[in-house]
Amino acid sequence: MNVLVTGGAGYIGAHTCVALLEAGHTVIVADNLCNSKVESINKVQQITNKDLTFYEIDTTDEKAVDTIFSNHEIDGVIHFAGLKAVGESVENPLAYYYNNLVGTMVLIKACQKYGVNRFVFSSSATVYGDNRVPFVETMDLLPTTNPYGETKAMSERILTDIANANPVFSVSILRYFNPVGAHESGLIGEAPNGIPNNLMPYVTQVAKGKLEKLRVFGNDYPTVDGTGVRDYIHVLDLAEGHVAALENLTEGVHVYNLGTGKGTSVLELVKAFEGANDIEVPYEIANRRPGDIASCYADASKAKRELGWTAKHDLISMCRDAWQFEKNYKE
Ligand code: NAD
Ligand code: WQD
Repeated sequence: MNVLVTGGAGYIGAHTCVALLEAGHTVIVADNLCNSKVESINKVQQITNKDLTFYEIDTTDEKAVDTIFSNHEIDGVIHFAGLKAVGESVENPLAYYYNNLVGTMVLIKACQKYGVNRFVFSSSATVYGDNRVPFVETMDLLPTTNPYGETKAMSERILTDIANANPVFSVSILRYFNPVGAHESGLIGEAPNGIPNNLMPYVTQVAKGKLEKLRVFGNDYPTVDGTGVRDYIHVLDLAEGHVAALENLTEGVHVYNLGTGKGTSVLELVKAFEGANDIEVPYEIANRRPGDIASCYADASKAKRELGWTAKHDLISMCRDAWQFEKNYKE
């Protein structure tokens, strides 16, 4: 298939480009590089020894998007392009609603114009809100605590309405849990700008000595050791999940959790990281972070049943690969 990957220079997008190329697909990337570098495209080509086509464009730019659709016979779209920093979305909601919603609608419009009927969308476990774990796709969604999360819930709604009105439009909505890790080559991985918000990149930067110590946000949650529990999933598994979703897409709207089904606490992750890499991660207990929930993990059985996909990498390999990337990464 000829696959248009928006946000393909980003963290999850680049790993998915590798998986798509390795599965024999042709890849066209559209990314405005607002949170990534063009080098990741070169690294994808280096890892796979295959070429892809890259357009530096903004997905909210209708004309630029149209040009891509007219230049290529696109069979399917995987739409990663979006802003994703939760705190920033609270400070600048308009940027988030505009970028994430308009970008999605411009792409759907181009799909309709050019008869492209396969659409895979990056959603997030955040749309479940503070539901009861494990999160199942059939649950009613609860409000999220931030505009970022709302853009995901709204995009799901928009895609669902459009697919219902146009039954040949096939949509796969993938709700990711907590993506971590990196390609085993150490060439591509997560390189956030500034001080990381997410746990794993914070841990790797503490291990590297770039940051002094981890602050563990709360140790009084109703969890195994009082710290927050999440379902960490290796980005390589996530990438394979996209290939499976695209290749198995049938008419209608399909929602899948992409997680391992296993919850890990903050302290369990720190311990696993220290053990996997034989390195110390100093930490202190701090206040809870506003907006955090106690526990979030997937019921991942639907993706297994319908897509034949399950996560294969364990927490140790997530920690090893995340560290391998950070160790070698130069700003
Ligand atoms: P990322 O920031 O590394 O990648 C997103 C890419 O999209 C970047 O390369 C950025 O330059 C590009 N981009 C953003 N807005 C654009 C626009 N208007 N036009 C063109 N390119 C644009 O993030 P990621 O972690 O790879 O996330 C990919 C997707 O998955 C996002 O939609 C994100 O919301 C979603 N997601 C991520 C996580 C996570 O924890 N990383 C969890 C759930 C869902
Ligand atoms: C994990 C756990 C923190 C940092 C976020 C978004 C979600 C999705 C994934 C995009 C929590 C604790 C963290 C630190 C800590 N993103 N923590 N010290 O909050 O589950 O999800 O990223 O779609 O929408 O909300 O991930 O990695 O930030 O936190 O103690 O310095 O680690 O409290 O329990 P989260 P996270």
